[in-house]
Amino acid sequence: MIGDIIEIRAGILRTMTTPKKRRSWAEPFKIKMVEPVFMTTREQRQKAIEEAGFNTFLLRSEDVYIDLLTDSGTSAMSDRQWAGILLGDEAYAGSRNFYNLEEAIQKYYGYKYVVPTHQGRGAEHIISRIMIKDGDYIPGNMYFTTTKLHQELAGGRFVDVIIDEAHDPDNWHPFKGNIDLDKLEALIKKVGAEKIPYVAMATAVNMAGGQPISLENLKATRELTQKYGIPIIHDMTRVAENAYMIQQNEDGYHDKSVEEIVREICDLTDGATMSAKKDPMVNIGGFLALNDEKLFDEARNMVVIYEGLHTYGGMAGRDMEALAIGIAESVQSDHIRARVGQVHYLGRRLTEDGVPVVQPIGTHGVFLNAKRFLPHLSQDKFPAQTLASEIYIDSGVRSMERGVVSAGRDAETGDHHYPELELVRLTIPRRVYTMAHMHVVEESVQAVYENRDKIKGLEMIYEPKHLRFFQARFRKLS
Ligand code: F0G
Repeated sequence: MIGDIIEIRAGILRTMTTPKKRRSWAEPFKIKMVEPVFMTTREQRQKAIEEAGFNTFLLRSEDVYIDLLTDSGTSAMSDRQWAGILLGDEAYAGSRNFYNLEEAIQKYYGYKYVVPTHQGRGAEHIISRIMIKDGDYIPGNMYFTTTKLHQELAGGRFVDVIIDEAHDPDNWHPFKGNIDLDKLEALIKKVGAEKIPYVAMATAVNMAGGQPISLENLKATRELTQKYGIPIIHDMTRVAENAYMIQQNEDGYHDKSVEEIVREICDLTDGATMSAKKDPMVNIGGFLALNDEKLFDEARNMVVIYEGLHTYGGMAGRDMEALAIGIAESVQSDHIRARVGQVHYLGRRLTEDGVPVVQPIGTHGVFLNAKRFLPHLSQDKFPAQTLASEIYIDSGVRSMERGVVSAGRDAETGDHHYPELELVRLTIPRRVYTMAHMHVVEESVQAVYENRDKIKGLEMIYEPKHLRFFQARFRKLS
């Protein structure tokens, strides 16, 4: 008998014929503690989403069955991380856990100096305040909500220099996180290098659908920016996931470990902001890492104003210990293969069902293409926001809008930004859900897809000034 080996690579399903029998792999852990989740009735969910103004951020977690809102702070810590929690040294200054964290960052990421922060946006705030001047431009490979806002609050203007393929949900480019070097150089020539404090380079680009940047592209970006003396600041929130995709899909890297590739990425940059609630699987935490001593000195001075002393920056000692351990776990090859593998499993099944999802499948979630899912709804009827609430009503699965609501308004004209990508993100927390949960999610999305013609859009009835997607409220259009 000829067996099949099914291999998932960049979301592409390949069936190879080999004389071997098919062998499955499973999660590299067993479950030691469980947290019950409860199913609700359709009527209860209908009431809950109405009370939440059709915004999944405003639902109570008790009303959620499978929570795919985010992979941020929602992952399962290991027994070692929990053991680390008990080793918290809660001294105000000079906690032992800070030095362990600093050592882990230096060892795995290679950055010299570390400023802990309460989470990623704390680091974004500090780097923006110390590097951006009024009227500056910050080119980046697609915006992220909090990152862009901090750049703007510091007087800067974000400029998207990601490759065009990233804005096309059906384009199968394996590295849609790549920077378009022509766009970047054109901006430098137009505004002048002195107006560009740094290039904001994200790994596993969130808003593009969890899409990686290649090392070839990062090296070329480095060469170009060095020519003009512009540093690169790395949003390293999901760097291990990006490194895994490089290992799978970039020539010359198949035999390198994820740990080695992570280090190579970081070595091509000058500093980084980290939301440690993702890759390193802690519930709270983040940091700013830098190689330049002068900048570090300024950042360390600023952290005491906004976050806390420079040896805790808003984190408890115990959280820093769990983070130090999580950094090491995040680059382990069996862990990262299972983590991305689970996301790709769900993505592959939905693709086979004919549901429109962003291709290739990203690393931290499956992104539904709401424009194609609900083609009868124009973007001002918030198709992704609508779809997220319909999936919740169907099954209690909570997802997140990543479209016109997240994109906000243009600071100058006051109009909605209408991004090409109008997406619903089914974000998978690390080590939390089983394959059976993935099947429930798949069936719910399928059920909503079958009834898509009957779905009506939403109208916004409350809009907060900043990061409106978190707290905006909507009403169903009749
Ligand atoms: N950068 C990226 C790429 C992120 O995904 C996030 C958070 C941040 C920065 C900000 O970090 O939340 O710790 O302050 N993303 C979460 C998400 C909220 O659901 O994607 P934070």
